[in-house]
Amino acid sequence: MQIAMIGAGYVGLVSGACFSEFGIDVKCVDTDAAKIQRLLKGEIPIFEPGLDELIERNVAEGRLSFSTGLKDAVSGADAVFIAVGTPSRRGDGFADLSYVHAAAREIAEAMTGYTVVVTKSTVPVGTGAEIERIIRDTRPDADFDVVSNPEFLREGAAIGDFMRPDRVVIGTESERAQKLMKRIYRPLYLIETPIVHTSVESAELTKYAANAFLAAKITFINEIADLCEKVGGDVHDVARGIGLDGRIGRKFLHAGPGYGGSCFPKDTVALARTAQQAGAPLRIVESVIEINDERKKNMARRVIARCGGSVEGKTIAVLGLTFKPNTDDMRDAPSLDIVPALQAAGATVRAYDPQGMEEANKLINGIDYCESAYETMNGADALVIVTEWNAFRALDFDRVKAAMKTPVMIDLRNIYDPAEMLAAGFDYVCIGRPNQTRETQHGG
Ligand code: NAD
Ligand code: UGA
Repeated sequence: MQIAMIGAGYVGLVSGACFSEFGIDVKCVDTDAAKIQRLLKGEIPIFEPGLDELIERNVAEGRLSFSTGLKDAVSGADAVFIAVGTPSRRGDGFADLSYVHAAAREIAEAMTGYTVVVTKSTVPVGTGAEIERIIRDTRPDADFDVVSNPEFLREGAAIGDFMRPDRVVIGTESERAQKLMKRIYRPLYLIETPIVHTSVESAELTKYAANAFLAAKITFINEIADLCEKVGGDVHDVARGIGLDGRIGRKFLHAGPGYGGSCFPKDTVALARTAQQAGAPLRIVESVIEINDERKKNMARRVIARCGGSVEGKTIAVLGLTFKPNTDDMRDAPSLDIVPALQAAGATVRAYDPQGMEEANKLINGIDYCESAYETMNGADALVIVTEWNAFRALDFDRVKAAMKTPVMIDLRNIYDPAEMLAAGFDYVCIGRPNQTRETQHGG
């Protein structure tokens, strides 16, 4: 069995490495020559826990290889997976399918014998049919099927998600293609992973519906958190109280600064556009997008309010820049809204992130980057926790207070306990839980 993986980004690299771990011969291809050069030298271009060992082992065993040569990888492959980017199209928010279409044309020219072309990229409904048209037009003689096999992995937990998924969705009406997909995913069949067989269109829609639903779930709990702040209540307790209802579920009920990342923001917008175009607008999704955008902007205002209404001339320490922990991905991270807004209001921002600073430096100007969490706090008027890296969960409070000018902590991820922070002498503000300030303790 031989697979070509087109695109060696977060999804292509992880999927390619995991398929090779299944014992399949995988050739990963990318147009980014610098990325391939790094991979050939044994360097992993992204931060994803466990990926380095997985790649090293499978390369050493001769099952996983990297190149820029699509033709060599595709000719002779039983299946070709498309895992290229589908970013938001500038201006209208529809998914930009130019990379997918280009890959389809190149695949068509290179494939030999019966080939299953599998879309792993997140693509709008109808894209599978379009890929089929492109391949048919380019190579009228080609023997192939197009399958939609969306990917549900999360960054930071990608290998576990791929190896032990909640389900695998396989969209095709071709029995021959389905048989081949079964062989590819055999190890997951053996561990009784639910496999959902659908049409190509249903599989394409399932991916967007899943992301939009999760984005809505987060947005719902964020709004409940806002209500808790107004009327008294603790969003942790409410989330637990509703999440234990099996129909609701406990996951994705952590209130925070708004969802970010490479997928929820672009996929919700793309789905909303598809639905508008189809004449069946998704008003819930449209609201989720609007509320989340506004929320991310509001976070800086929250910090400024906590600093007495102005951060002019003040120093703000920021812990965490990536959109979530355990990744170096900065795409649509809440920090991209928060930090520039604080700077625009006159603050000096000192920041530390265990993996994201190199990427952040390309996207935000004027941050004083620090070598450690504690270094950010030197002389700071306030400390803001933007991303919940484990390294920030057990700070030495005495050391923090000694370093800061004033012990004000704004915890946008609720990683500390309000009562404990108050006892430790902090003015502590978090999301959707009773806020603890030294003034309120004294009845102020
Ligand atoms: P990415 O930007 O990290 O990687 C895409 C790669 O494709 C890049 O390295 C790019 O150089 C390469 N590429 C583009 N055109 C090419 C071509 N014609 N031939 C070969 N290589 C080409 O993107 P990603 O985060 O891996 O996402 C890929 C797709 O998977 C997107 O549709 C995304 O929505 C979806 N997805 C992503 C995640 C995630 O966690 N990042 C999870 C599930 C699904
Ligand atoms: C998300 C989905 O979880 C994956 O299933 C999907 O495959 C992927 O998008 C995709 O299509 O690319 P990912 O973006 O890697 O994965 O990360 P998540 O863990 O889903 O977090 C997304 C954002 O939501 C982060 O900013 C995170 O901080 C936020 N979030 C998540 C919350 O604010 N609260 C929560 O309870 C959960």
